[in-house]
Amino acid sequence: MSKRIILLPGDGIGREIIGSAKTVLDAVAEKYGHTFNFEHHTIGGAAYEEHGTPLADETIEACLQADAILLGAVGGKKWDTLPPQLRPEQGLLKIRKALGLFANIRPIKGFAPLLHASPLKEEVILGSDILIIRELTGGLYFGEPRERREDGNVAVDTLLYHRTEIERIVEQAFESAMLRNKHLTSVDKANVLESSRLWREIVEEKSKAYPEVTVEHMLVDAAAMKLITDPTHFDVMVTENLFGDILSDEASVLTGSIGMLPSASLSKNIGLYEPVHGSAPDIAGKGIANPLGMILSAALMLRYSFELDKEASEIEAAVNKTLESGYHTADLDIKNGKKVGTSEMTDLVVNQIKRK
Ligand code: NAD
Ligand code: IPM
Ligand code: MN
Repeated sequence: MSKRIILLPGDGIGREIIGSAKTVLDAVAEKYGHTFNFEHHTIGGAAYEEHGTPLADETIEACLQADAILLGAVGGKKWDTLPPQLRPEQGLLKIRKALGLFANIRPIKGFAPLLHASPLKEEVILGSDILIIRELTGGLYFGEPRERREDGNVAVDTLLYHRTEIERIVEQAFESAMLRNKHLTSVDKANVLESSRLWREIVEEKSKAYPEVTVEHMLVDAAAMKLITDPTHFDVMVTENLFGDILSDEASVLTGSIGMLPSASLSKNIGLYEPVHGSAPDIAGKGIANPLGMILSAALMLRYSFELDKEASEIEAAVNKTLESGYHTADLDIKNGKKVGTSEMTDLVVNQIKRK
């Protein structure tokens, strides 16, 4: 199989971990006789430095022509004082909108060797396996108006959803639930928000087409609590953009570190794969970032965009084996483990792939 993949390293640790994904994909390509051609482009602060904008039109054009996209992370102190439309984060929002990446899939499954690395009790997280489906191109992130008024002393953001936007993400969630344990939790704030009441209505309507799926509605504040008191309660969760952003960072503690969490951002035609974490300015440049969320995002790319399920599973197994051998990066709190940096962790995973 021959594929064209765009690499968007971004900023901070994004620039360090993107190479880990590429190295792992090169090893998979060699072993299975695939050809992955990589093309680098900038996004975020790096794109601002190169093009004066956090996402250049030519980058969007290249992404539209590609088979899939891998993204590191964007953001950094240097660009925090830029006008809002020039901030690195705007590059990320723009690419999601431009490519129509409405479904952000964030699987949260602990690796057995890391169960004791979570701040939560092992018996609480044992067996937890959650798929968070986050709506990614609507809600507060994109609703208009969004502005300052009255000499900057009043600020407005708008939580806006169209029926069709909710329908497509809810459908995606039901389809995912059908492939898993057929338990769907729709998270909203329908006791307060009008957009949540429309969301809940649509979930009820759509549920008629999926009688095998058990559906429950949960308010977001209660869901935030239940995620860490009773995570095995959940199978598939579906929620709007901002709730999904917050709940997925919270859920990352189940895996021991946010550095472990991959994600897939999907449109009907293309996928962009990115770890859930940010550019981690506090550790950038030190060579200690955990590359596994990025590497596992590459595995999701193989599975969802290229239907290379065997190869994807092989990467996941190689990560598991490496962790089983006691290796971990500094973000994981493991007693008596073998602490390694980004490149060493990457090599260990690659060695596992080559060995089998
Ligand atoms: P962050 O996710 O970058 O970092 C939170 C904490 O987790 C930090 O202590 C960091 O060191 C640690 N961490 C994150 N990823 C890690 C990894 N792979 N290995 C080891 N430790 C890791 O969130 P933040 O500090 O709130 O944000 C920093 C910047 O990143 C901001 O500019 C923010 O806007 C941006 N951001 C970008 C994305 C993205 O590009 N998808 C996501 C979140 C935040
Ligand atoms: C994420 C990030 C982004 C978001 C930011 C950087 C715009 O936190 O991908 O989770 O809020 O979507
Ligand atoms: Mn986030």
